Amino acid sequence: MTTCKTFAIVIMAAGKGTRLKSKRAKVLHEIGGRPLLAHVIKAAQLIVPARDIYVVIGHQAESVRAAVGPMGVQFILQAEQRGTGHAIMCAREQVQGYGNILVLSGDVPLILPSTIQQLHDFHVSKKAAMSVLTAELPEPFGYGRVIRASGDRILAIVEQKALSKSQQRTCEINSGIYAFATKPLFANIDRLTTNNAHNEFYLTNMAVLLNKVGAKAKVLALKANDPAEVLGANTLAELAALDATLRARKCSELMAAGVTIYQPETCVIDSEAEIGADTILEPFVQILGKTRIGSDCRIRSFSVISDSRLADNVLVRPGCIIDQSVISAGALLGPYSHLRPGTEIGEDAHVGNFVETKKARLGRGSKANHLTYLGDAEIGAGVNVGAGTITCNYDGEKKHGTVIEDGAFIGSDATLVAPVRIGKGAYIAAGSTITHDVPADALAFGRAHQAVKEGWAKKRREQKVDRK
Ligand code: UD1
Ligand code: CA
Repeated sequence: MTTCKTFAIVIMAAGKGTRLKSKRAKVLHEIGGRPLLAHVIKAAQLIVPARDIYVVIGHQAESVRAAVGPMGVQFILQAEQRGTGHAIMCAREQVQGYGNILVLSGDVPLILPSTIQQLHDFHVSKKAAMSVLTAELPEPFGYGRVIRASGDRILAIVEQKALSKSQQRTCEINSGIYAFATKPLFANIDRLTTNNAHNEFYLTNMAVLLNKVGAKAKVLALKANDPAEVLGANTLAELAALDATLRARKCSELMAAGVTIYQPETCVIDSEAEIGADTILEPFVQILGKTRIGSDCRIRSFSVISDSRLADNVLVRPGCIIDQSVISAGALLGPYSHLRPGTEIGEDAHVGNFVETKKARLGRGSKANHLTYLGDAEIGAGVNVGAGTITCNYDGEKKHGTVIEDGAFIGSDATLVAPVRIGKGAYIAAGSTITHDVPADALAFGRAHQAVKEGWAKKRREQKVDRK
C-alpha cells in the first residue's frame, strides 16, 4: 500500500429516515434553507479539501448526488442500507489508505468545524483507535448511550432499545461523530454482526470490538462543549428545533457583523444569505436562498426576498416580494411591490405600490410608482411610468418585449401592446392603447376623442322629474 495520506472525512448519508414519515430522503430535508447534508459537507470542507470528503449515499442516491454534487465531494454507494457499520464497510476501498478518518452523520447538521477539528486533534494526540464525540443531554431518549470505563476510556455504546434499566439513566450520548485509526478499524470491522434489535451492522459496536483487541487500541470519548451542536434530526419536530437553532445562530453572526435585526426571533434568514453592516431588518422579514444585501439598506416588515442581490442604500418598504432580482443602490421599493425573476432595478429608481415586474429592466432614476405590470420590458433611465400602465407582453401564445427609451413619459393607464418601442423622450397620453412604435420626442394618443354634449345631464334629470 502507498504511504498514508493524512485523513479523510466520511459522511454517512445513505439512510432512509423512516421516522420522518416523508417521501424525501432524510439528508435532503432542509434547515436554514439548505439540505441537512449540505451543512455537514460545508463544515467538513473547512477541515479537509472536498476531494478528501466521501459521502456514503444509498436511499434516493441520485437525488442526493444531484443536490450536493456541485460541492465537489466524492460519493460512495451503499446500495443496500444495512446499518452505520455497513456504511463504513462500503467506504473501505476508498479510505483505507488514509491514516485516520473522521466519520460524520448526514443528519447531525449543526456540528461546527472547530469541534470536528478538536475531535481530530484529540484523537491524534491520544493515539486512539476510536474517538467518539459525546454530549450530555437532559433528555437523551433515542440516542445511543456511552458507557464509560475510567478517564477518557469507554467500554461500549449501547443503543436505546438495548439499554438496561440503570443504563437508561446515563445522559451521555453518542453524537454519531467519530474518529478512527483506519488500521484497527478495517482489521476488525468484518467482525461486526447484525445481532441486534434492527438487524443492522452498528458502527457503534466497534467500541466493544476494539476494546477486545487489547489495551493498545484505545477507545475514547470527547465530550462536546455545546450539546446543541450534536443534536440529530430524526423527526420533523427535531428538524424544526434544529432549524430554529441554526437561524438564531445566523442572526447572531449577522448582528455581530453590524446588521441590526429587530426581534430576530421573527425573522427567517437562510444560511447562505449575506447582509452588509448598518443594514436594518425589521420584524417578520424573510431573506432566503443566496440573497446578498449591501450596507445601509432597510428591509421593512413582511418582505420576502429570495435569491436576489440588493446593493447599498436600498429601501424595501413593507410587504414586498422580491425573487431572483437585482436592485441597484439607492432604489426604493414598495410597499407591496412584486419583483419576479429577471427584474433589474437601476440606481435610485422607484417601484411602488402594487407594481409587478418580470424580466424587466428599469433604468437609473426611473419610476413606476403605482398599480403597474411591467413584463419583458426594457426601460431606460429617467422614465416615468404612470399609474396603471400595463405592458401587454403575452398574445396568448408567445411573449413579446416592450422597449421604453430614456426620458419617455408614459401617462397613466397606458396599455402598451408588445412588441412595441417608445422612443427617447416620447410622451404617451394617459389612457392610450399603443400598438405601434412611437418615435423619439413624439406625442402619441391612442384613445377615443372626447365628445361633450352641453346640458345633456341637466335635461335628463328634468325628464325624470316630469315622469313622476
Ligand atoms: C446513530 C447511532 C446512535 C447515535 C445517533 C446520533 C448507530 C447504530 N447508532 O443512531 O448511537 O446516538 O446516531 O445521532 O450508529 N446511515 C447510512 N447507512 C445505513 C444507515 C444509516 O448511511 O445503512 C446514515 C444515516 O443516513 C444517518 C446516519 O447514518 O445520516 C445515522 O443513521 P441513523 O439511522 O439516523 O442512526 P440513529 O438511529 O440516529
Ligand atoms: Ca440519526
